[in-house]
Amino acid sequence: MAVSDLEPDLIVDNAQCVCVIPDVMKHSRLMIRAVCCMAGLWLIGVLGMIGVGAEQQPPASEGHPERFGLGEPASMDLIQRLDIDVRPDGTGLPEGSGTAAAGAPVYAARCASCHGPSGEGATANQLVGAAPVGASPATIGNYWPYATTLFDYIRRAMPTNAPGSLSTAEVYGLTAWLLAANGIIDTDADINAQTLPLVRMPARNIFVPDDRLDANTVR
Ligand code: HEC
Repeated sequence: MAVSDLEPDLIVDNAQCVCVIPDVMKHSRLMIRAVCCMAGLWLIGVLGMIGVGAEQQPPASEGHPERFGLGEPASMDLIQRLDIDVRPDGTGLPEGSGTAAAGAPVYAARCASCHGPSGEGATANQLVGAAPVGASPATIGNYWPYATTLFDYIRRAMPTNAPGSLSTAEVYGLTAWLLAANGIIDTDADINAQTLPLVRMPARNIFVPDDRLDANTVR
C-alpha cells in the first residue's frame, strides 16, 4: 500500500456535510459519504437544540441584574445564636444551672401535653421508664448514651411547637427533672456545665464509636 493511498480525501458535498475519507476506502466512498452526511446533519440538529453555535443566543445574564441581592452576610451574632451544639464530653454547655425542682413546673407547662404528666408518653415519646437497658420502649433512662446531648436536644428541638424558646436555666432544669425522674441523678442535684458531663447514663455501654470506613459494613 502506497503512502499516498492513506492520504485523506476531503469531500465537501454541501455546506452541512464535510467528511474526511481515507483514500484506501474509495471503493465504499458512496456509502461512507451517506452515513457521514447523516451523522453531520444529526450533529448540527443536536447542537442547534442545545444552543451551541447559535449566533442569536442572548447571554445568560441579559435582562437580569448582575446580583439579585438576596440574603445578607451572616453576622457573628447570628452565627453565635446558631452555633449551640453540645458535644458528648460537655463541650459547648453554657453557663447556668438547674435542678429537678426548678424543672418540674416547666415540664408541666411546656412538655406534659405531649409526653404525659410523668413522662410516661402521650401523643409523643415516652421519656421516663424503667425498662431494661436497650429494651422497648426506649426512654432517656434505657437508651440515651449521654446526658449532655439530652440538654442539646431539648434546647434545639423542644417543644416541637416552639423550638428554641426555652431559656438556658429552663433547659438545665428540664434536663435535671428528666434525669431525676429516670432515677439517674438525685432529685436535689444541681445540674450545670461541670456536673452534667459527669452523669453516667445507664445505656452508655450499648453504644460504640462508629469508626467504620465503609458505610456498608455491618457489625
Ligand atoms: C407538641 C408536642 C411536643 C411537646 C410540647 C414537646 N415534645 Fe418532646 N417530642 C415531641 C415529638 C413528636 C418527639 C419525637 C421527635 C422525633 O422523633 O423526631 C419528641 C421527642 C422528645 C425527646 C426525644 C425522645 C427520644 O428518646 O427520642 C425528648 C428528650 C423530648 N421530646 C423532650 C421534651 C421536653 C423536655 C419538652 C418540653 C420542653 C418537650 N419534649 C415538649 C413532641 C413534643
